[in-house]
Amino acid sequence: MGLPTGVGLAELGHEVVCIDREVYKIEKLQAGQVTLYEDGLDSLLQKNFKSGHIKFTTSMSEGVKGAQVVVIAVGTPPHPVTHEADMRYVYEAATELASCLHNNEYTVVANKSTVPVGTGDNVESLIAKNNPDVNFDVVSLPEFLREGYAVHDFFHPDRIVVGANTDRAREVIREMYKPLLTLNPQCTLLCVKRRSSETIKYAANSFLATKIHFINEMADFCECTGADIYEVAQGMGLDKRIGKSFLQPGPGFGGSCFPKDTMAIDFMARQNNVNLSIVRATIDGNNKRIKDMATRILEVVEHEEAEPCFGILGLAFKNGTDDCRVSPAMQILQEILHRKPKSSVRVFDPEAMENARSILQPYMARVTFCDSALEVCTGADVLAVLTEWPEFSELDLAQAAPMMRHQHIIDCRNMLSPQKALNLGFTYRGIGLGRS
Ligand code: UDX
Repeated sequence: MGLPTGVGLAELGHEVVCIDREVYKIEKLQAGQVTLYEDGLDSLLQKNFKSGHIKFTTSMSEGVKGAQVVVIAVGTPPHPVTHEADMRYVYEAATELASCLHNNEYTVVANKSTVPVGTGDNVESLIAKNNPDVNFDVVSLPEFLREGYAVHDFFHPDRIVVGANTDRAREVIREMYKPLLTLNPQCTLLCVKRRSSETIKYAANSFLATKIHFINEMADFCECTGADIYEVAQGMGLDKRIGKSFLQPGPGFGGSCFPKDTMAIDFMARQNNVNLSIVRATIDGNNKRIKDMATRILEVVEHEEAEPCFGILGLAFKNGTDDCRVSPAMQILQEILHRKPKSSVRVFDPEAMENARSILQPYMARVTFCDSALEVCTGADVLAVLTEWPEFSELDLAQAAPMMRHQHIIDCRNMLSPQKALNLGFTYRGIGLGRS
């Protein structure tokens, strides 16, 4: 989120300095190279780097010198046991920042990291305690970028939420986004209380995660009743009150936001003796769904092969990214390897092979990394589609069929043609496609 935001702000005409502790990242960026895969980021970075609008440093004092706005965009990973957001990096950044701010300048400290409600107050106290004379305000500036579409989303936001408790801070942020609002006259800049803004981010992500879980449960229902989930989703989505987005059924949601943020708000709610029963059901239901998907894949060959080979298409948590963290595909894959110790897998992902390799280290002897979707099929008993990469729909099933030991398809993203598969003698199971 930090780099696309920095590059986006530079493109809007601001002078931007990106600060990171990781020396190797800053060195790469100082050479004009991106440190992550995001559509359109590379060229925009090159452009603004060459024009001098964006600079990179590991030194906080150097980076924030003269800044009107300092954006905190560090990670808030979930605690392994309690799942509450780990605030270490936010508070470390705020503490270091306090000593770098100058008394005679007014600075807005804008928090873009997804943080528990009340964090703005804590950051404010921390800075004031460490540097009592400094003139500053803390605002909450939640970020709604999607991975893989970060550049697009930066320039085409549905809304910009600003949680500020002073008019002065609100105006500085409004000024910062002025060029973006001029480009997007339909975009609302919503000014709210800081605590409301912090809540909006969790509420929005929980709602979207719930919408996905809802459509996944409906897909299960369709499979049993002979309905088609796409027809059902279309019929629901045409109601403007419901909307057609985020009704794509699949193997469960993943990524570094929905699982983390639903668990974090559930933790906060329990701390406050509030029962967020719908969010809780979404978390539990999604975890169960991932296990259920592994069962679907395992049960097709249960009685056919003692040492089955599974062909896996897709490892990233969604298409358009190389991110494998909290990926349903990786979780399903690991579940299969764990539950079937004598099994092996053949895997392919257009972008995520390198990241997957490090996560799959403990299973290396049983994993074959393939160069194409077709190669995955060699000797496989089941072909499972786990990530919605559009190119998977182009897999030539006629070529794939004779390469496989058994012709079974479990299509958790509905990327392949059921009719083609059935005509070629495959068994085919998609998501929410009831037979009637
Ligand atoms: C999400 C939010 O969309 C974004 O606003 C926030 O800033 C960060 O979290 P991201 O994690 O990048 O973005 O991915 P998103 O595109 O929302 O998808 C999340 C997961 O839900 C993926 O696993 C995806 O495959 C799944 N999904 C999404 C579905 O299964 N069905 C859908 O209809 C949409």
